[in-house]
Amino acid sequence: MPRVSATAQEAADTGKKLLEDNIVIRTFGIRKTFVMGDQEIHAVNGVDMEIRYGEYVALMGPSGSGKSTFMNLIGALDTPTAGEYFIAGQLISTMSDDELAYIRNREIGFVFQTFNLLPRLTALQNVELPLIYAGVTPAQRTERALRALQQVDLTDRMYHTPAELSGGQRQRVAIARALVGAPSIILADEPTGNLDSATSAEIMGVFDVLHKQGNTIILVTHEPDIAMHAKRIVQLRDGKVAKDEETRWALATAFASTEQAQPGEDNRV
Ligand SMILES: Nc1ncnc2c1ncn2[C@@H]1O[C@H](COP(=O)(O)OP(=O)(O)O)[C@@H](O)[C@H]1O
Ligand SMILES: [Mg+2]
Repeated sequence: MPRVSATAQEAADTGKKLLEDNIVIRTFGIRKTFVMGDQEIHAVNGVDMEIRYGEYVALMGPSGSGKSTFMNLIGALDTPTAGEYFIAGQLISTMSDDELAYIRNREIGFVFQTFNLLPRLTALQNVELPLIYAGVTPAQRTERALRALQQVDLTDRMYHTPAELSGGQRQRVAIARALVGAPSIILADEPTGNLDSATSAEIMGVFDVLHKQGNTIILVTHEPDIAMHAKRIVQLRDGKVAKDEETRWALATAFASTEQAQPGEDNRV
């Protein structure tokens, strides 16, 4: 993969073109290699991907296929070993840690499997936290945090600490925290991984509403019924994109393979 931006001017031009085309994330051959002793692990091994504003994407694949590493790259938590990528028109892959932190704060909202809330803070204070780092005034912080808690329907629990909330409520707080900075992209790494199926369905209902409101959502999941909420399913395998299709086609393919296993065939299970 040739470098798309040998100079700052080229990077600016590419970024501008991507924005004109409504593309929020574009990766060009990104790789992340971890060195463990004398072994190299190619966690992400050359991914070209394009995600438009407002898309709802499920990232699937077996354990160890590079899903979390890829999410950390596009979430500006990490930089690639090789390749380039753009978020919201800006070349991220060559940024310094300070610049990455700035981008993360403005463009990315993260939701994790384990919620990652601060236990001593109330729901409201947890949601306000990213705004403190962003230098927003206290009055503005409270107002915006309240609005985010409204979006996940949790204002009645805003003075409770995480220990006083159910798993589903904690994840709602985490989603509100991800939303509070009005990010371009919401990234969720197995957001229902610690929740029972009824609560998972409830949390997916929240993501569905956020998608309808125009948010860009990328979520990692193992579970097909969670992935079905997304409009597009990307399958990773060994750090590469194995499949990338609209959810309705993914469904059609699933039915087609069922039909192949019809009576008369030996491959029935
Ligand atoms: N910080 C790290 N150091 C070394 N190897 C890592 C690190 N993070 C991930 N890996 C390895 O990279 C591969 C992909 O991991 P990961 O992205 O966590 O996969 P997934 O989220 O799909 O389960 C795995 O082989 C994993 O062991
Ligand atoms: Mg993972």
